[in-house]
Amino acid sequence: MRIGIIGAMTVEVQMLKDMMQNVNVAKVSGIEYYAGTISDVEVVVAQAGVGKVNAAICTEAMILKYEPSAIINIGVAGGLATALKVGDIAIADTVVEHDMDTSALGDPIGFISGIDIINIPCGGWVTEALGVAAKKIDGISTLCGTIVSGDQFISSKEKKTELVNRFDAIATEMEGASIGHVCYMNDVPFGVLRAISDSADDEADMSFNEFCEMAAKNSLKVILSFLETVKEN
Ligand code: ADE
Repeated sequence: MRIGIIGAMTVEVQMLKDMMQNVNVAKVSGIEYYAGTISDVEVVVAQAGVGKVNAAICTEAMILKYEPSAIINIGVAGGLATALKVGDIAIADTVVEHDMDTSALGDPIGFISGIDIINIPCGGWVTEALGVAAKKIDGISTLCGTIVSGDQFISSKEKKTELVNRFDAIATEMEGASIGHVCYMNDVPFGVLRAISDSADDEADMSFNEFCEMAAKNSLKVILSFLETVKEN
Protein backbone atom coordinates (compact mmCIF):
# COMPACT_ATOMS: atom_id res chain seq x y z
CA MET A 1 0.00 0.00 0.00
CA ARG A 2 1.33 3.43 -0.94
CA ILE A 3 -0.31 6.61 0.41
CA GLY A 4 -0.15 9.80 -1.67
CA ILE A 5 -0.07 13.04 0.33
CA ILE A 6 -0.60 16.44 -1.30
CA GLY A 7 -0.34 19.91 0.24
CA ALA A 8 -0.35 23.31 -1.43
CA MET A 9 2.19 25.31 0.57
CA THR A 10 5.66 24.62 2.00
CA VAL A 11 4.41 24.92 5.59
CA GLU A 12 1.85 22.19 4.89
CA VAL A 13 4.29 19.48 3.69
CA GLN A 14 7.92 20.34 4.56
CA MET A 15 7.97 18.51 7.91
CA LEU A 16 6.80 15.29 6.19
CA LYS A 17 9.51 15.56 3.54
CA ASP A 18 12.12 16.07 6.29
CA MET A 19 10.94 12.94 8.12
CA MET A 20 10.98 10.61 5.12
CA GLN A 21 13.40 7.74 4.72
CA ASN A 22 14.68 6.02 1.55
CA VAL A 23 13.72 9.13 -0.43
CA ASN A 24 13.61 9.31 -4.21
CA VAL A 25 12.75 12.66 -5.80
CA ALA A 26 11.28 13.04 -9.29
CA LYS A 27 10.01 16.17 -11.02
CA VAL A 28 6.94 16.03 -13.28
CA SER A 29 5.33 19.13 -14.83
CA GLY A 30 7.29 21.38 -12.46
CA ILE A 31 6.16 19.54 -9.30
CA GLU A 32 8.56 17.51 -7.13
CA TYR A 33 7.40 14.10 -5.86
CA TYR A 34 9.14 12.68 -2.78
CA ALA A 35 8.69 8.89 -2.67
CA GLY A 36 9.90 6.99 0.38
CA THR A 37 8.67 5.79 3.77
CA ILE A 38 7.31 7.34 6.98
CA SER A 39 6.79 4.99 9.96
CA ASP A 40 7.55 2.11 7.55
CA VAL A 41 4.54 3.06 5.38
CA GLU A 42 5.26 3.77 1.71
CA VAL A 43 4.31 7.35 0.86
CA VAL A 44 4.66 9.84 -1.95
CA VAL A 45 4.52 13.49 -0.87
CA ALA A 46 4.09 16.50 -3.17
CA GLN A 47 3.70 20.25 -2.82
CA ALA A 48 1.26 21.15 -5.59
CA GLY A 49 1.07 24.93 -5.24
CA VAL A 50 -2.10 26.88 -4.51
CA GLY A 51 -5.40 26.46 -6.33
CA LYS A 52 -7.48 23.91 -8.23
CA VAL A 53 -5.43 23.65 -11.43
CA ASN A 54 -2.10 23.10 -9.63
CA ALA A 55 -3.78 20.49 -7.44
CA ALA A 56 -5.31 18.69 -10.46
CA ILE A 57 -1.97 18.56 -12.32
CA CYS A 58 -0.29 17.20 -9.21
CA THR A 59 -2.95 14.56 -8.52
CA GLU A 60 -3.12 13.20 -12.07
CA ALA A 61 0.66 12.92 -12.37
CA MET A 62 0.88 11.26 -8.93
CA ILE A 63 -1.74 8.67 -9.89
CA LEU A 64 -0.13 7.83 -13.23
CA LYS A 65 3.46 7.69 -11.96
CA TYR A 66 3.06 6.20 -8.45
CA GLU A 67 -0.31 4.36 -8.49
CA PRO A 68 -1.12 5.25 -4.85
CA SER A 69 -3.74 3.16 -2.99
CA ALA A 70 -5.24 6.42 -1.68
CA ILE A 71 -4.49 10.15 -1.78
CA ILE A 72 -4.88 12.49 1.21
CA ASN A 73 -4.97 16.25 0.86
CA ILE A 74 -3.55 17.94 3.97
CA GLY A 75 -3.17 21.56 5.08
CA VAL A 76 -5.15 24.50 6.42
CA ALA A 77 -8.67 25.81 5.75
CA GLY A 78 -11.11 28.55 6.59
CA GLY A 79 -13.69 27.35 9.11
CA LEU A 80 -17.36 27.67 8.11
CA ALA A 81 -19.08 25.60 10.82
CA THR A 82 -19.43 27.56 14.07
CA ALA A 83 -18.15 24.49 15.95
CA LEU A 84 -14.77 24.77 14.22
CA LYS A 85 -12.27 27.06 15.96
CA VAL A 86 -8.74 27.96 14.91
CA GLY A 87 -6.52 24.86 15.28
CA ASP A 88 -9.42 22.37 15.05
CA ILE A 89 -9.53 19.62 12.41
CA ALA A 90 -12.01 19.37 9.52
CA ILE A 91 -12.28 16.01 7.72
CA ALA A 92 -14.29 15.71 4.50
CA ASP A 93 -16.86 13.05 3.77
CA THR A 94 -17.70 14.86 0.52
CA VAL A 95 -16.07 17.74 -1.37
CA VAL A 96 -17.56 20.41 -3.67
CA GLU A 97 -16.06 22.82 -6.23
CA HIS A 98 -17.99 25.84 -4.97
CA ASP A 99 -16.96 28.10 -7.87
CA MET A 100 -18.16 25.66 -10.58
CA ASP A 101 -21.07 27.63 -12.05
CA THR A 102 -23.09 26.72 -15.15
CA SER A 103 -26.28 28.03 -13.54
CA ALA A 104 -26.96 30.20 -16.62
CA LEU A 105 -27.54 26.90 -18.44
CA GLY A 106 -29.95 25.65 -15.78
CA ASP A 107 -27.53 23.62 -13.61
CA PRO A 108 -27.26 24.04 -9.84
CA ILE A 109 -24.09 25.84 -8.69
CA GLY A 110 -21.33 23.33 -8.00
CA PHE A 111 -22.63 20.82 -10.58
CA ILE A 112 -19.76 19.19 -12.50
CA SER A 113 -20.90 18.28 -16.01
CA GLY A 114 -19.56 14.92 -17.19
CA ILE A 115 -19.53 13.23 -13.81
CA ASP A 116 -22.88 14.97 -13.18
CA ILE A 117 -22.61 15.42 -9.41
CA ILE A 118 -22.09 18.30 -6.98
CA ASN A 119 -20.81 16.43 -3.91
CA ILE A 120 -17.87 14.15 -4.68
CA PRO A 121 -17.76 11.32 -2.12
CA CYS A 122 -14.44 10.66 -0.34
CA GLY A 123 -13.14 7.12 0.07
CA GLY A 124 -15.16 5.75 3.01
CA TRP A 125 -12.25 3.92 4.67
CA VAL A 126 -9.98 6.97 4.27
CA THR A 127 -12.45 9.35 5.97
CA GLU A 128 -13.02 6.83 8.75
CA ALA A 129 -9.29 6.22 9.34
CA LEU A 130 -8.60 9.99 9.37
CA GLY A 131 -11.31 10.39 12.03
CA VAL A 132 -9.76 7.64 14.16
CA ALA A 133 -6.30 9.21 13.72
CA ALA A 134 -7.54 12.69 14.72
CA LYS A 135 -9.24 11.37 17.87
CA LYS A 136 -5.86 10.06 19.08
CA ILE A 137 -4.46 13.62 19.25
CA ASP A 138 -5.10 15.23 22.63
CA GLY A 139 -6.67 18.68 22.77
CA ILE A 140 -7.77 18.91 19.13
CA SER A 141 -11.45 18.66 18.27
CA THR A 142 -12.61 17.29 14.93
CA LEU A 143 -15.64 17.74 12.70
CA CYS A 144 -16.52 15.67 9.64
CA GLY A 145 -18.64 17.00 6.74
CA THR A 146 -18.53 18.73 3.37
CA ILE A 147 -15.40 20.74 2.54
CA VAL A 148 -15.69 23.16 -0.39
CA SER A 149 -12.90 24.37 -2.67
CA GLY A 150 -12.56 27.26 -5.11
CA ASP A 151 -9.90 29.52 -6.57
CA GLN A 152 -10.71 32.16 -3.94
CA PHE A 153 -9.44 32.97 -0.46
CA ILE A 154 -12.77 33.50 1.34
CA SER A 155 -12.70 36.55 3.60
CA SER A 156 -16.21 37.95 3.92
CA LYS A 157 -19.20 37.17 6.06
CA GLU A 158 -21.52 37.30 3.03
CA LYS A 159 -19.55 34.73 1.00
CA LYS A 160 -19.15 32.55 4.07
CA THR A 161 -22.91 32.55 4.71
CA GLU A 162 -23.54 31.72 1.05
CA LEU A 163 -21.22 28.67 1.19
CA VAL A 164 -22.82 27.42 4.40
CA ASN A 165 -26.37 27.86 3.12
CA ARG A 166 -25.78 26.50 -0.38
CA PHE A 167 -23.57 23.48 0.40
CA ASP A 168 -23.95 22.89 4.16
CA ALA A 169 -20.15 23.18 4.18
CA ILE A 170 -17.96 22.97 7.29
CA ALA A 171 -14.73 24.41 5.82
CA THR A 172 -13.36 26.10 2.71
CA GLU A 173 -10.00 25.86 0.95
CA MET A 174 -8.57 25.91 -2.55
CA GLU A 175 -7.54 22.37 -3.60
CA GLY A 176 -9.41 19.49 -1.92
CA ALA A 177 -12.35 19.17 -4.33
CA SER A 178 -10.05 19.36 -7.33
CA ILE A 179 -7.94 16.51 -5.92
CA GLY A 180 -11.20 14.66 -5.19
CA HIS A 181 -12.44 15.25 -8.75
CA VAL A 182 -9.27 13.76 -10.27
CA CYS A 183 -9.30 10.81 -7.83
CA TYR A 184 -12.98 10.16 -8.53
CA MET A 185 -12.33 10.03 -12.28
CA ASN A 186 -9.42 7.61 -11.71
CA ASP A 187 -11.28 5.49 -9.12
CA VAL A 188 -8.68 6.25 -6.42
CA PRO A 189 -9.96 6.64 -2.81
CA PHE A 190 -9.16 10.05 -1.36
CA GLY A 191 -9.53 12.09 1.81
CA VAL A 192 -9.23 15.75 2.81
CA LEU A 193 -7.73 16.64 6.19
CA ARG A 194 -7.54 20.31 7.09
CA ALA A 195 -6.77 22.32 10.21
CA ILE A 196 -8.52 25.64 10.70
CA SER A 197 -6.33 28.75 10.27
CA ASP A 198 -9.16 31.33 10.13
CA SER A 199 -12.93 31.65 10.02
CA ALA A 200 -13.28 32.80 6.38
CA ASP A 201 -14.79 36.07 7.64
CA ASP A 202 -13.77 39.73 7.48
CA GLU A 203 -10.73 39.04 9.72
CA ALA A 204 -9.63 35.93 7.78
CA ASP A 205 -6.48 37.48 6.31
CA MET A 206 -5.11 38.52 9.72
CA SER A 207 -6.05 35.19 11.31
CA PHE A 208 -4.48 33.23 8.43
CA ASN A 209 -1.18 35.13 8.78
CA GLU A 210 -1.10 34.55 12.53
CA PHE A 211 -2.28 30.93 12.75
CA CYS A 212 -1.39 29.24 9.44
CA GLU A 213 1.79 27.67 10.80
CA MET A 214 0.19 26.40 14.02
CA ALA A 215 -2.78 24.96 12.08
CA ALA A 216 -0.53 23.31 9.48
CA LYS A 217 1.31 21.57 12.34
CA ASN A 218 -2.00 20.17 13.64
CA SER A 219 -2.81 18.77 10.21
CA LEU A 220 0.67 17.18 10.12
CA LYS A 221 0.12 15.61 13.57
CA VAL A 222 -3.06 13.94 12.31
CA ILE A 223 -1.53 12.63 9.08
CA LEU A 224 1.32 11.09 11.10
CA SER A 225 -1.24 9.47 13.40
CA PHE A 226 -3.09 8.25 10.25
CA LEU A 227 0.09 6.62 8.92
CA GLU A 228 0.55 4.85 12.28
CA THR A 229 -3.06 3.60 12.02
CA VAL A 230 -2.48 2.36 8.47
CA LYS A 231 0.70 0.58 9.59
CA GLU A 232 -1.17 -1.27 12.36
CA ASN A 233 -3.94 -2.53 10.03
N1 ADE B 1 -7.24 28.36 3.36
C1 ADE B 1 -7.17 28.79 4.63
N2 ADE B 1 -8.10 29.72 4.89
C2 ADE B 1 -8.79 29.87 3.73
C3 ADE B 1 -9.87 30.71 3.33
N3 ADE B 1 -10.41 31.56 4.19
N4 ADE B 1 -10.32 30.61 2.06
C4 ADE B 1 -9.75 29.75 1.19
N5 ADE B 1 -8.73 28.96 1.50
C5 ADE B 1 -8.25 29.01 2.76
